[in-house]
Amino acid sequence: MADNPSTGSGRSPSELQFETLVSLCKRRGFVFPGSEIYGGIGGFWDYGPLGVEMKNNIKRAWWQAMVQERDDVVGIDAAVIMNARVWEASGHVETFSDPMVDCRSCKHRFRADHLDGDVCPECGAVGQFTEARQFNLMFKTFVGPVEDEASVVYLRPETAQAMFVNFENVVTSMRRKLPFGIAQIGRSFRNEITPGNFIFRDREFEQMEMEYFCRPEEAGRWLEHWLRERLAWFKRIGVRPENLRARAHKPEELSHYSSHTYDIEYNFAAMGWSELEGIANRTDFDLKAHAQHSGKSLTYFDEETNEHIVPYVVEPAVGVDRAFLVLLYDAYREEEVRGEKRVFLQLHPQIAPIKVAVLPLSRNEKLVPLAQAVHAKLRPHFMTQYDDAQSIGRRYRRQDEIGTPLCVTIDFESLEDKAVTIRERDSMDQTRVAIEELVPALREKLGEL
Ligand code: GAP
Repeated sequence: MADNPSTGSGRSPSELQFETLVSLCKRRGFVFPGSEIYGGIGGFWDYGPLGVEMKNNIKRAWWQAMVQERDDVVGIDAAVIMNARVWEASGHVETFSDPMVDCRSCKHRFRADHLDGDVCPECGAVGQFTEARQFNLMFKTFVGPVEDEASVVYLRPETAQAMFVNFENVVTSMRRKLPFGIAQIGRSFRNEITPGNFIFRDREFEQMEMEYFCRPEEAGRWLEHWLRERLAWFKRIGVRPENLRARAHKPEELSHYSSHTYDIEYNFAAMGWSELEGIANRTDFDLKAHAQHSGKSLTYFDEETNEHIVPYVVEPAVGVDRAFLVLLYDAYREEEVRGEKRVFLQLHPQIAPIKVAVLPLSRNEKLVPLAQAVHAKLRPHFMTQYDDAQSIGRRYRRQDEIGTPLCVTIDFESLEDKAVTIRERDSMDQTRVAIEELVPALREKLGEL
């Protein structure tokens, strides 16, 4: 059972490429290319058995921080398809588009604002680009049997609009007073012209968004508050602080609905500082627009001042898939152990897909019943994995590579002393613990990491 001593605490390679993660994710069951046996489909990815666990952990951590532990935020789960007029009111039909050019020579299409010069990055032709045209990013489909203009609907490009459309329903049913927020986690769709960098920019993805309604004069203060909260959340779930920063949008970068926006950015060695989350002051843009288009009043009656006001909205909005990528990227470590490379994911225990692996030293018929009994004891408490294939060293490596914080090993001594060994992912330290004490001991160690 002896594990080699580590020579250091592990370092992430200075130029970790996305290909390394794509390969690990496929090999170990985190993320697969969408529709792979048909050659794939750009911008769509399938989460495998470990990916879905990790994704659920991220969503649970967000919901806990944003809803469960707060008095002032409630959740909803709205339909993906909404009345098409929602997207006219929100401005998305008119303005949610990217400028796009085609190369006349090779017919490839590019985002005009992503091109450096007049040379096609695909075929090298010079001066062959068409004039830029606006390309709307919303996917269109039809509701009902007739495919005409009147039945056109859109797959939502953000979850946020459902919070504005349900503003009155939530205020009334939940007796809310300002300031308060409505949170949602759900799928969004964008027909991105250039999806890529693994799951960084997808055409189907999930968002975790919260619309915080407040008095107009307090919006600036809440914007700063939510920026601090969101940065602290990423640090709490294990992202290294030196890889995070906040950046205020320049006026020309602002979305059509926003007066001030911060991006929380992550420093990918492979592509530099990139947007992870946006925190925007959406002003009263959305509520006013929906009031105007629907003819319904979307004001809030303030009993203290006896006046009707249109609240301002501060919105922290982050992609689940993008947070997933950042957490994996940030956790990736390589180190030398006695001349061999060890790869491990230093994931926060709350985020790791498997918390505890149960490993009998061998498939010996005396060991197996005890190992299975230990596994049965742990399963109600932790997400576990039982593995008895191959050598113990290889099984440790496999657990390291999927970020499992703790392994429990059952050996021949266990039959005598009713104790097992806990092996830690990061330090590779081993401690002997009585099976009786195992659940609290694991819980304590997971809390310490
Ligand atoms: N409701 C505001 C909104 O949707 P956004 O900046 O367009 O704002 C918010 O999106 C977050 O959603 C982004 O910071 C990013 O994390 C995620 N996101 C946006 N587009 C994405 C895409 N194509 N693929 C993956 N994540 C995306």
